[in-house]
Amino acid sequence: MLSPTIAGVSMKKGKLIGVGIGPGDPELLTIKAQKILKNVPIICAPRSAPQRPSIALSIVKNTLNNRKKEYHVLEPVFPMTENYKSLEDHWDRASNQVASFLDQGKDVAFITLGDPSIYSTFSYIQRKIEARGYVVEMIPGITSFTGCASSAGIPLVEKDDILVIVPKVDHRLKNILKDGDTFVIMKTSRHSELLEKTIKSDHREKEIISVKNCTKDDEEISRGFVNHKKYLSTTLVKFSKYKL
Ligand SMILES: C[S@@+](CC[C@H](N)C(=O)[O-])C[C@H]1O[C@@H](n2cnc3c(N)ncnc32)[C@H](O)[C@@H]1O
Repeated sequence: MLSPTIAGVSMKKGKLIGVGIGPGDPELLTIKAQKILKNVPIICAPRSAPQRPSIALSIVKNTLNNRKKEYHVLEPVFPMTENYKSLEDHWDRASNQVASFLDQGKDVAFITLGDPSIYSTFSYIQRKIEARGYVVEMIPGITSFTGCASSAGIPLVEKDDILVIVPKVDHRLKNILKDGDTFVIMKTSRHSELLEKTIKSDHREKEIISVKNCTKDDEEISRGFVNHKKYLSTTLVKFSKYKL
């Protein structure tokens, strides 16, 4: 994509790259992600509130500290609210910030926990930036739920098992429960009562494992549900033909 000319010379616009950075352990960054993080001039790291540091940025801190080329970090706020108008305003503001660097011909790496295609704030910016005609790429990352399964040392699904990823517990969980074999419940600590009631209503034999901060130094693995209100927390529910 070419911009209007500067002093008669066409300038190539930058591209937006959604970079999956894995679940937490910096060693789980892919080689491709590291390469981009060492070279891209602009890093965009989402955070949930102005006073809260970006979790994603903390994971790539060492990679950035070790780089030789200068870089600039954008930390747009994406609040954890269901107020769509407020979210839309924040996405627009972040997209404008990103676009201002793309217009200067600079590539922007938007770092995202796990994989950029899985419930990531990157998707909202991706849609807006693509709609404005810029080029967008994605670099896959190790997802939090495969990280959790590895930490727990269990196979997530086997043979003809059906895996269900649940981003929010509501009435839909009960409707699909009987057809799934393994359920990954994200943001699990937010809604433990309905979650527990729904899972208990299914009388199949089951194993439940919760993982907090998987692959990080302070990782915690426990049997059953948790109620600690920690964001980086996932519960795996495996209805067993095979035991965990
Ligand atoms: C918005 S989703 C992001 C998912 C991410 N894009 C992925 O590919 O895994 C955030 C949820 O992912 C889960 N999560 C992310 N990192 C985690 C970690 N290190 N340990 C446990 N759960 C994690 C939690 O359930 C958290 O509430």
